[in-house]
Amino acid sequence: MSPTPFSPSPGEPVLVLLEAGADGARLPRVADPAVPHLRVSDQGVTRGDGLFETALAVADEAGVLRMRKLGAHLGRLASSAAALQLPAPSAAAWEAAVERGLQAFTAANDVAAGDRLSVRLTVTRGPEAAPGALPQPSAWALLSPAPAVEDEERRTGLRVLLLDRGLDSRAPERSPWLLTGAKTLSYAVNMAALRYARAHGADDVVFTSADGYLLEGPTSTVLIVRTGVDGTRRLLTPLRQKGILAGTSQAVIFAAAGAAGWELGYGPLVPADLEGADGVWLVSSVRGVLPVRAVDGVEIPVDHALTLELQAHLDADGDPGAHVAGDPAPTAG
Ligand SMILES: Cc1ncc(COP(=O)(O)O)c(C=O)c1O
Repeated sequence: MSPTPFSPSPGEPVLVLLEAGADGARLPRVADPAVPHLRVSDQGVTRGDGLFETALAVADEAGVLRMRKLGAHLGRLASSAAALQLPAPSAAAWEAAVERGLQAFTAANDVAAGDRLSVRLTVTRGPEAAPGALPQPSAWALLSPAPAVEDEERRTGLRVLLLDRGLDSRAPERSPWLLTGAKTLSYAVNMAALRYARAHGADDVVFTSADGYLLEGPTSTVLIVRTGVDGTRRLLTPLRQKGILAGTSQAVIFAAAGAAGWELGYGPLVPADLEGADGVWLVSSVRGVLPVRAVDGVEIPVDHALTLELQAHLDADGDPGAHVAGDPAPTAG
């Protein structure tokens, strides 16, 4: 017997389960987010064994919601799944789930231009399978209204602490099981680092490697802008091979800035590269482009015009091209 169709309530998150059909294909079903759907033995819960993506959907002038950077997010989800050897649903199944969720949200709400939803795709290794049984990953999309970005936060900027992640920059290559470049569900360490920063008078964190390279924020990518003596703008981000997640926002911003004539550089970067920069930003899909105003208690310049320019590159939602995939060749910081 198929379950009764569920209609989401206005203003509430929309849950779309990707259920395994008879032929193994994954089919989307809108379900009640207020009731349990996971088994307590699901390895996503018992071991943090799974992966996720967080993306942004924005309503256009006609009030039609569209997920940004769909291809980049689904590409990164597939890379994370490969790193975890997790049989995740196909890109087509995720696209169907997102489409179904956006339709259900639109049917339940008066969507206005500029409205934002965070779209979180999750897949876990599922309940512990009996010996010889096929694994049954659990997969779902959760679409939740996202608050508008506070102009104040974007103008004022973030105070960050540089925190040692405790791994040297060769660890990802030496120990691929650390899964440093995958977006796994094991974010307790990242959340602990954020709590540490907040308990010590800061708003956010930039991780460094044990041998002193700049890495990333717990939920963001680091960008630096420098202007050369000839006025050329140079946009820099830490080298991915040092063990960071390939940011989809960074990729889109790099592609747009490159097309606008900026020079681009993929580190490797060290904390000294933050000094004398025009500005430093933390970027991610839902929070967007946020300037850093202090590093370890030392104030740094905040360039409001540059923040808006980088945010406009992100909002243009262009093709990230080659910046989204693969490991770019190192360039000088
Ligand atoms: C560790 C980490 N780095 C970078 C990012 C930024 O990624 P994106 O721009 O694709 O949202 C995130 C996003 O949550 C993250 O968790």
